[in-house]
Amino acid sequence: MSIRIIGTGSALPEKIVGNRDLTELVETSDEWIKERTGIGSRHISTGETLVSLTANACERALENAGREAADVELLLVATCSPERNIPCAACQVQSAIGANQAVAFDLNAACAGFLFALNTAWAYVEAGIYKNALVAGGEVLSKIVDWTDRGTCILFGDGAGAVYVEKCETGGILGFVQHSDGTKGDVLKCDSRALKNPYVDRPMEAQYVQMDGREVFAFAVRQVPASIQEVLEKTGIGAADIDLFVLHQANKRIIEGISKRLSVDLDRFPINLDRVGNMSAAAIPVLLDELNRQGRLKSGMKLVLSGFGAGLTYGACVMEW
Ligand code: UT7
Repeated sequence: MSIRIIGTGSALPEKIVGNRDLTELVETSDEWIKERTGIGSRHISTGETLVSLTANACERALENAGREAADVELLLVATCSPERNIPCAACQVQSAIGANQAVAFDLNAACAGFLFALNTAWAYVEAGIYKNALVAGGEVLSKIVDWTDRGTCILFGDGAGAVYVEKCETGGILGFVQHSDGTKGDVLKCDSRALKNPYVDRPMEAQYVQMDGREVFAFAVRQVPASIQEVLEKTGIGAADIDLFVLHQANKRIIEGISKRLSVDLDRFPINLDRVGNMSAAAIPVLLDELNRQGRLKSGMKLVLSGFGAGLTYGACVMEW
């Protein structure tokens, strides 16, 4: 038994910010950003919220699947930029779309969040607990990014993507691997509120994303191909049999490095980060939705999805479309 993706959806903020716009904020250039990351522009919220974007993506996924919100049994939202600590984003999305029967909760594994949420849905269905799920990844990273830090503010974008999955007897997700390494947590972090109550009063720490870009880069090009190899071995499928590698969209040079290590042509690695930047948990479902709507995903195709990021967290799954 497994789960199969029946529908996909996505939503992006209206405002597009190009690299040249960023030169008004920090000392950078269109050439540097394109050469070092492959990013040309990103969507940035001027009012859209994590909940409004994720709810739109979920509604589009349901519409694409031809299913009703009222019949959804599990609703998972992967995010590291929720509007509220409580209630969780998934409960707010549940209310917005009318998925009244669903159990809803959030999952934070940063850029690997969507993949981990998809695997969680798989586990619930495999255990016979639920028959279907809406799995979303949404981020409004622009509110946790330091817009004076050129090492990070050029990278990130806002958006949301979602998939609707159902139990299936054959095909669907064929296997997955996932890993976490909390000892390397400091290389990409963003503080929450500082401890401040009547009994302690510590100065507030910076509440923005801080990153050692080179460390994250080195981790990604080393661990992501290894986890893809691991899931291919586990499922007994060769890299040559995979039609598309749908990877987290962080940096074009990371994707090139992974394609080289796997000895797989770059044209099997679809890329949209040139238009949307790095949207953390939203990256994979938004890319999947674009591919689906472009008609590039045909029944029976084999895909690898792979996410990686803060935590550190990383993993991969193989699925038959
Ligand atoms: O989802 C996971 C999230 N994170 C990532 O995926 C990040 C992975 N890392 C990266 O993508 C790259 O490390 C970056 C794009 C962040 C940086 O690229 P890099 O080639 O590793 O640059 P660097 O940090 O080694 O910096 C090289 C130079 C430095 O100048 P000096 O010290 O050589 O004079 C930086 O100050 O480039 C400078 N620099 C910039 N210059 C123009 C850093 N950011 C910029 C910028 N514009 N935006």
